[in-house]
Amino acid sequence: MKVWTREKRLRTRSENGTLALGELLTELLPAPKLVVLRGDLGMGKTTLVRGMAAALGADSMGVTSPTFTLVHEYKGRKTRLIHLDLYRLEEEREIEGIGLWEMAEAQDALVMVEWGDRFASVMERADAEISIGQGEEENERLLRVQW
Ligand SMILES: Nc1ncnc2c1ncn2[C@@H]1O[C@H](COP(=O)(O)OP(=O)(O)O)[C@@H](O)[C@H]1O
Ligand SMILES: [Mg+2]
Repeated sequence: MKVWTREKRLRTRSENGTLALGELLTELLPAPKLVVLRGDLGMGKTTLVRGMAAALGADSMGVTSPTFTLVHEYKGRKTRLIHLDLYRLEEEREIEGIGLWEMAEAQDALVMVEWGDRFASVMERADAEISIGQGEEENERLLRVQW
């Protein structure tokens, strides 16, 4: 089990608010990093990645959920933002097949993994974790960043 030493809590009240957090998060978690993104469907995990893509100078309009493709990559000015969704994987060994470990070793890569917490090997290698939960109001989201 991973022991994190640092934690930051953030709150957003809108989709745009979540997009805006992308800048802060890319500064907090510079490449190279493997970041596990946790949170139920619709919590804004993909929205957050879109905000991070924009902050890194990538074409954020094209950021969509990699649910079927497993991996999407966006080219920022200095950093490659690699976005994975492991929802459809069932076994640890499938992770080798998609090349996650090689991606995580690239010095210019910030790797964001949705549903990474389903796999012990991913949690073991993770450098940070972002958990997004529902706030009191409909569009309110509470983020907990640990690294
Ligand atoms: N504060 C918020 N942050 C992000 N998305 C929000 C927020 N409030 C409402 N939403 C809505 O929730 C949905 C989040 O979708 P998405 O980012 O794809 O979530 P996930 O990847 O976690 O399933 C969008 O339809 C968005 O409009
Ligand atoms: Mg998503």
